[in-house]
Amino acid sequence: MLGLGRLTFVLLAAAATCALAQQAPPWTEDCRKSTYPPSGPTYRGPVPWYTINLDLPPYKRWQELMAHKAPAPGLLGSFPGPYEEEMKGIAAVTDIPLGEIISFNIFYEIFTICTSIITEDKQGHLLHGRNMDFGIFLGWNVNNNTWVVTEELKPLTVNLDFQRNNHTVFRASSFAGYVGILTGFRPGLFSLTLNERFGTNGGYVGIIEWILGKKDAMWIGFIVRSVLENGTSYEEAKNILTKTKILAPAYFILGGNKAGEGCVITRDRKQALDIYELNPKQDIWYVLQTNYDRWKSPFFLDDRRTPAKKCLNRITQENISFATIYDVLSTKPVLNKLTVFTTLMDVTKGQFETYLRDCPDPCIGW
Ligand SMILES: *[C@@H]1O[C@H](CO)[C@@H](O)[C@H](O)[C@H]1NC(C)=O
Ligand SMILES: *[C@@H]1O[C@H](CO)[C@@H](O)[C@H](O)[C@H]1NC(C)=O
Ligand SMILES: *[C@@H]1O[C@H](CO)[C@@H](O)[C@H](O)[C@H]1NC(C)=O
Ligand SMILES: *[C@@H]1O[C@H](CO)[C@@H](O)[C@H](O)[C@H]1NC(C)=O
Repeated sequence: MLGLGRLTFVLLAAAATCALAQQAPPWTEDCRKSTYPPSGPTYRGPVPWYTINLDLPPYKRWQELMAHKAPAPGLLGSFPGPYEEEMKGIAAVTDIPLGEIISFNIFYEIFTICTSIITEDKQGHLLHGRNMDFGIFLGWNVNNNTWVVTEELKPLTVNLDFQRNNHTVFRASSFAGYVGILTGFRPGLFSLTLNERFGTNGGYVGIIEWILGKKDAMWIGFIVRSVLENGTSYEEAKNILTKTKILAPAYFILGGNKAGEGCVITRDRKQALDIYELNPKQDIWYVLQTNYDRWKSPFFLDDRRTPAKKCLNRITQENISFATIYDVLSTKPVLNKLTVFTTLMDVTKGQFETYLRDCPDPCIGW
């Protein structure tokens, strides 16, 4: 964390030598069409499903999964709820020191760049899509122009079916070894994704405070999981995500099960700064979030918002579907070298699909 200033410098230097214009060809392209069902060079492959049985004690829940997938990644503290026991269980079965499992879990709170979209069609049917972009700062592989961590995460990507009494409570896409959740849905009720919010004051203060012993705020990956695990409605989820104190600023992208139920909650650590909602009567038939406040311009080196909006507007509300959302999420630079996977969720139909992605050259680093 202390190296952040330097990392930012490295990022800026890399950006300058790479290309100042993320919005110029070949780093961008015309809106993609007919990319779904996924195939071709931007599709790496399917993601395997695992069941996490919530009726087991936390220590045992992840053992079957972790016996298959040990992450190749020290901070110790007292985590709340089931998480500490779950992490200890993961450490035991993988022989990875607990401290490393914990830093692996903390680290996702810090470096996730993403695009999330909720759409409403003319019939009031909601869809939720997201690209998970992760791995910046942690090394570039010059042999094949990829991010080292992004590539390592692809084989660790898993679909998780969290069950109680042998019934699905919620589904999620995540990385083996991470016990928080950033992407998931509760069939029939709501869908939820989390995007990182950078660069505002308070970014890391909360995490430092937590390490120093002030434990009254929640890790953002854990609040998402607890809402998915125990939330009973869109309204309740919205209320919790709006009001709970959290360790780091974030955007929560929440969709429900009926017309008008979709919003982006912009959070600082203590409160919601803005709740932007679907409103088809006012022609707001989608909400879109990358990693910048909607009332500000995106960081000039990283504008995924403008191309994604352009493609959604071109598709129009009449033609929105899994296929056309996947087209948007497949268009550079919305798709970029950091993109690990794309998820598509339909809460009312109970459909949840995740696809591993590649972005072959020419493709921008983020
Ligand atoms: C790039 O190379 C790394 C290391 O050899 C490998 O793990 C990764 O799969 C490669 N990625 C692509 C897209 O070829
Ligand atoms: C879940 O199903 C398995 C077999 O499919 C059964 O052995 C077990 O008792 C069931 N558990 C619960 C909590 O119903
Ligand atoms: C959900 O609620 C149950 C019962 O109150 C609790 O044991 C569990 O820890 C909660 N899950 C999370 C992730 O907070
Ligand atoms: C919707 O999609 C159909 C079939 O791809 C196409 O013919 C039609 O022009 C599209 N409508 C709009 C408004 O783009």
